[in-house]
Amino acid sequence: MEPHPSRETTPTVTIDLYSDTQTRPTPGMREAMACAQVGDEQSDSDPTTRALCDRVATLLGQEDGVFMPSGTMCNLVSILVQTRAGDEIVVDDQSHIYNTEAAGSAAIGGVSVKALATPAGIFSPNAFAAAIRPPARTAPRTALVSVEQTTSFSGGSIWDLADMRAIRDIAHRHELKAHIDGARLLNAVVATGIPAEDYAAGFDSVWLDLSKGLGCPVGAVLCGTRAFVVEAWRWKYRLGGAMRQSGVIAAAGLYALDHHVEQLRADNAHLRLLHAAIADAPGLSFDPAAGQSNILCFGVAGLGITAPDFAQACLAHDVRIRAIGSQIRVTTHLDVDRAGAVRAGEVIRAVAEAFAARL
Ligand SMILES: Cc1ncc(COP(=O)(O)O)c(C=O)c1O
Repeated sequence: MEPHPSRETTPTVTIDLYSDTQTRPTPGMREAMACAQVGDEQSDSDPTTRALCDRVATLLGQEDGVFMPSGTMCNLVSILVQTRAGDEIVVDDQSHIYNTEAAGSAAIGGVSVKALATPAGIFSPNAFAAAIRPPARTAPRTALVSVEQTTSFSGGSIWDLADMRAIRDIAHRHELKAHIDGARLLNAVVATGIPAEDYAAGFDSVWLDLSKGLGCPVGAVLCGTRAFVVEAWRWKYRLGGAMRQSGVIAAAGLYALDHHVEQLRADNAHLRLLHAAIADAPGLSFDPAAGQSNILCFGVAGLGITAPDFAQACLAHDVRIRAIGSQIRVTTHLDVDRAGAVRAGEVIRAVAEAFAARL
């Protein structure tokens, strides 16, 4: 049988910068999972899952949280709870919600998406205000705005706290809900020193991913008011149900919050190192905002080749990077140490120089 077109074989490589989802659970994390106390999440009697939800809710300054299998489901459930069919939501045009969630909000919630063109995945409060539709019999109702902190496909750029707050306040003045896709919110926290609860304050829904830089095998925690979480649970149920003895995976989340948050600071530092090593490499083009957290995007059109060609050439040197459209994306994480980041910088630079020499 032909393999499905979306199947990607994961090559065995020494330095894997494809995504921070590529981390493997550490021995300590596996031990914590093996020893987890469990119950039944459906009746809120899995003590480890409860502890994780409480821990993340406190970290984000929210009343309550619900454990989800993925960040994608956190975004979808947030939209489903806070909109109704025929509404419109506002996101940036490189956002995960718009590009890689299989149009779940449209397919399941009947919601349309207004995607704002942005320079680095970040739109201004003015651009957002202009995107809100005035009430009209003929227009969809603008119902929710989502901010992705940090950005994923826009190279890990970090939203200013002031802009986030301005967007939140504009949303509330117009009776819209304000949502944070916090897949990598803690990468912003360690980069800026601004506490997660300050970023999240006053937002109606916000979540953290555990399976990215925090290194867990799976999971995310979605937070908001108690009333929001009651409704989020209903949607979780409609979309598939409870995860029963989820304490086994929630334990990985608690372990990560105890042991891996500082690692995010190292991930950001490794990315800066790598960026500095290739910033003036021939033929590579970077956004001025590049290199703020653990993701770096760059173009290779100046080398007269495609992004997949460039990625393939790096793979031949045992460094895996990701081609996304015409861009390359590299992501640092806990399975890539300082030496790995330095080596990746050398390889990317050498590959750029080799292609440039053929021009
Ligand atoms: C910004 C952003 N939001 C949401 C998601 C979805 O998270 P998950 O892979 O846990 O479904 C991702 C995943 O890469 C992401 O980068």
